[in-house]
Amino acid sequence: MHTVIDPKILYLGTPVVLISTLNLDGSANLAPMSSAWWLDLTGVLGLGTRSYTFANLRRERECVLNLPSVDLAAAVDRLALTTGANPVLAWKAAMGYRYVRDKFREAGLTAVASEVVRPPRALECPIQLEASVRAIYSVGDATDFSACVEVKIVRVHVAEELLDSEFRHHISPDRWRPLIMNFLSFYGLGEQVHPSRLAEVF
Ligand SMILES: Cc1cc2nc3c(=O)[nH]c(=O)nc-3n(C[C@H](O)[C@H](O)[C@H](O)COP(=O)(O)O)c2cc1C
Repeated sequence: MHTVIDPKILYLGTPVVLISTLNLDGSANLAPMSSAWWLDLTGVLGLGTRSYTFANLRRERECVLNLPSVDLAAAVDRLALTTGANPVLAWKAAMGYRYVRDKFREAGLTAVASEVVRPPRALECPIQLEASVRAIYSVGDATDFSACVEVKIVRVHVAEELLDSEFRHHISPDRWRPLIMNFLSFYGLGEQVHPSRLAEVF
């Protein structure tokens, strides 16, 4: 039997992304997000328009989408309730957010230079996607403070151990263990549950 409910969110389980952008003073920001999906080499990011990251993206038009594996959950969690905005917006401060100047250090992650864009990559993340902003769309109404940011992936860095042993430009789904945000909790993926006809065709 099903029951009709009135949920506040529908975060049904998506990979966490650590998005690095450049702050106004040229330092690097690093923010967890998980409302992201992909069409070929395009990424679509759901972001709050009042985050520092969104302001950085709108101004700089560049970012790196760093994908943490499941073993980096603690590092991601250290960035929860932090912001690069100083002073912290009143409504975020009321939620317990605090300003952190160096979010890479806070997370225990290492910033390394990117090749195409100016924001740095997070070394420990096995997948790092350098990206440029192609378009920004508003989402919902003015009181939602939400936007979709469409980015074009311009360079893909992948840890060697994730690559398929035969097809060197393919990430092996058996080897990639994304960190999943399922509603507001962290999970990993289980094993493959069924053969995929689509995977055979591609
Ligand atoms: C696991 C996790 C997932 C999150 N997902 C999103 C998201 O998809 N979109 C978003 O706008 N904020 C998301 N947030 C909240 C941002 O990280 C938060 O707004 C943060 O303040 C952004 O940092 P900034 O203000 O320095 O940009 C998420 C936070 C966590 C911990």
